[in-house]
Amino acid sequence: MSHGRKAGFETRAIHAGQEPEPVTGAVVPPIFQTSTYAQAEVARPRRGGPSRNGSARGYEYSRTGNPTRDALQDCLAELEGGAAALAFASGMAAEDALLRTICGPGDHVVIPDDAYGGTYRLFARVLRRWGLAFDTAPVADPDAVAAAMTPATTAIWVETPTNPLLGVADLARLADLAHQRGAKLVVDNTFATPYLQQPLALGADVVVHSTTKYLGGHSDVVGGALVVADPDLGQELAFHQNATGAVAAPFDAWLTLRGVKTLGVRMDRHCDNAERVVEFLCQHPAVADVLYPGLPSHPGHKVAAGQMRRFGGMVSFRLAGGAPAAVDACNRARLFLLAESLGGVESLIEHPARMTHASVAGSPLAVPDDLVRLSVGIETVEDLLADLDQALEGL
Ligand SMILES: Cc1ncc(COP(=O)(O)O)c(C=O)c1O
Repeated sequence: MSHGRKAGFETRAIHAGQEPEPVTGAVVPPIFQTSTYAQAEVARPRRGGPSRNGSARGYEYSRTGNPTRDALQDCLAELEGGAAALAFASGMAAEDALLRTICGPGDHVVIPDDAYGGTYRLFARVLRRWGLAFDTAPVADPDAVAAAMTPATTAIWVETPTNPLLGVADLARLADLAHQRGAKLVVDNTFATPYLQQPLALGADVVVHSTTKYLGGHSDVVGGALVVADPDLGQELAFHQNATGAVAAPFDAWLTLRGVKTLGVRMDRHCDNAERVVEFLCQHPAVADVLYPGLPSHPGHKVAAGQMRRFGGMVSFRLAGGAPAAVDACNRARLFLLAESLGGVESLIEHPARMTHASVAGSPLAVPDDLVRLSVGIETVEDLLADLDQALEGL
């Protein structure tokens, strides 16, 4: 793939880490469904394929390394412009491994005041017991993030756009802020994906993914990933990944990699459809407010336009009729399936206050109960609009 000019995103998504298999020439990386590998001699693994840094690597045991997982990791590192990537059993497993690598008891992290509920729960109910302190801040406001930092802050944790309120954080500014104070900037890039936004190029230190979402793209596999700019941090994370063990299974890595190949074309269609849905919702009398960073009226629109290629497939809106109307709209939708998760080819609808974000009810991160979140899929857009029309009728 190296002919001087850097290959385009879609080309890299299809080929990076995915050289034809050396024995048979199979064009798709095989599912290496093996737990262990026969060694050439005592403590001398056979030579595996070349790794991202060019050194030959051998395989000993599949928690430590697996060629199918490596293919996914190499592809993700390439797409995010990182030095290394690690694939995990879920997004939460990736987050846990990252935090227990870059933080220790006594440290402090600033997280978004509308963080994904599972991320908040990890901090509030798991890592707090381990001695990791945190505070929340509106990540759209860098001054508020700076004010929330303490001398013990080791990381600023950011989602952009946020889940489910679609707030936008200025990544270059937050990277500067973090680095001035000796902290790392961690960006959960699940909503945007590397096709729409490249946090490492804007100064972030670590990108987090729930690959369950757009990267996998077909709602058929749960997974997570970390991508880092610094190869030494990559080594440290690989040590923790092996030591704690929440690795992506070979079949899961294979499914995720198959999804990644079409990420660019899917994201463009997600964005096309989301834009039409936003247009429809903005003129609907039952809708009080539409949250989408692509709207010029969105407070983060300018920042989003500067750091994103397009604005993504996630759309949230508030109902003039309050919580009962929001719940009714969710229950009435047919083509939009009522389900948690997001980022698959099929459209989903949900009520965050009672579903994905139920774990933050009563906390500072509680979301408005008149809010509906859509994951706009890649179906025929007229069918999506017709479904929303019937779901909102008379509300
Ligand atoms: C933004 C975001 N980050 C992380 C996660 C956690 O990922 P997983 O469900 O794969 O563990 C999710 C899951 O919904 C998410 O939406």
